[in-house]
Amino acid sequence: MYSYRINGGKPLRGDITISGSKNAVLGVLAASMMLDGPCILENVPDISDVKVMVELCRTIGATIEEIDKYTLRIDPTTINTYTATGPEVSKIRASYYLLGALLARCGKAYLRMPGGCNFGQRPIDYHLKAFKAMGAKGTNARDIENGIIKLEANPLHGARVFFDIASVGATINVMLAATKAQGVTMIINAAKEPHIVDVANFLNSMGAKIKGAGTDTIRITGVPTLPGNFSYSIIPDQIEAGTYMIAAAVTGGDVTIHNLIPTHMEPLSAKMREMGYTVEEDDESIRVYKEPDAEIEGTNFKTAPYPGFPTDLQPQAVVLLCLASGMSKMHENVWETRFQYVAELQKMGANINCIERVALVSGVDSFKPACVTATDLRAGAALVCAALEAPGVSYIGYASRIDRGYENIIEKLTSLGADVERVEKPVFDNDGEA
Ligand code: EPZ
Repeated sequence: MYSYRINGGKPLRGDITISGSKNAVLGVLAASMMLDGPCILENVPDISDVKVMVELCRTIGATIEEIDKYTLRIDPTTINTYTATGPEVSKIRASYYLLGALLARCGKAYLRMPGGCNFGQRPIDYHLKAFKAMGAKGTNARDIENGIIKLEANPLHGARVFFDIASVGATINVMLAATKAQGVTMIINAAKEPHIVDVANFLNSMGAKIKGAGTDTIRITGVPTLPGNFSYSIIPDQIEAGTYMIAAAVTGGDVTIHNLIPTHMEPLSAKMREMGYTVEEDDESIRVYKEPDAEIEGTNFKTAPYPGFPTDLQPQAVVLLCLASGMSKMHENVWETRFQYVAELQKMGANINCIERVALVSGVDSFKPACVTATDLRAGAALVCAALEAPGVSYIGYASRIDRGYENIIEKLTSLGADVERVEKPVFDNDGEA
């Protein structure tokens, strides 16, 4: 039960390096469970969601050794079950990738329903419908008893799968199952996020036959074995990078963010330039600052699947809009409800009105320090950005939720001149773990 204490009002200045992508490594860890030999994963972020996923893989018998803080040696040949129904499964959403991985490895997968941030309904109907098309039994809602999904496919065969919405999780899960299914699987209207490409690249480096990842249509030709015996380095985290770009901007600072892929940042870089910030790109870094005479104007954002503006930067972008002049709108088109954090920003003086999936933002001069709660991972990151700008001391409760996806955030912000620390006390009486 700990909080972050942030004494804000200081411009961030200097350089930081981005860690490996949370949403890529969670898919890659599940994919590694399908291999017929060991592998080495590099640039693994040191965050709590990874620790949960590693523990989950160990509960099914995989041998995972930490070679160093950022490198894992994974041996899935010791896997001894296709059942994962312990409490750790419900801690994160990505646990459901084990459905695809275990179906591919064992032809069976028994899994407790996943957890994840509370954005309203988070169905997995696309996943189950696709597995059904691939020959799996147990995919109907009535088959789920006591919250346990029990899938069996004998055999698991290729299928043509169409997604109504370009779902990240369903795209990755079907890619996993199809990698060792009999025949060819086509995914139409696939999601194209960078982390999907990373999972496909990992699998292909281990012997899979996946074509088209990163486009609307992915073709997977099933293979009988995945020898493994390779090393793979996880891509940099697009959302962590975007969060620091926004933190630099709102504090009136000048920060260069290293070890990122500028193309992945384009949806945010373009919008920040539109607002009046200076965003300079190099091969693997981006510098963010504001020219002295630049006016920061409000604008409208619309979240969408990649290459649209990422929903995981939506809360942080609203913090940008709160400090821009004029009226702005944030349209959240991916999740049913993703504005729970607005009430916390209003405690800090933000002028925001939410109507269903739209937040209307009217610019203010500055945030005010306050005691607030991280309602989820990215909401917490947004509150950090606001507290860094607010002159004075703010406290952010439920800070463990932020550590789910931000490696060494205190150290990274401190290196940029921020006055932040972790305090081992809840901000509010009912403060608890993530
Ligand atoms: C992934 O969640 C990410 N999580 C989320 O990031 C991210 O917000 C989301 O993709 C969108 O980019 C991980 O990668 C671990 P979806 P996922 O399936 O896969 C609907 C973070 O902060 N849908 O792309 O669960 C769904 O309700 C987290 O890192 C169905 O209707 O997202 C939503 O409206 C938060 N049925 C839309 O599709 C399904 O079977 C997109 O969901 C699946 C999804």
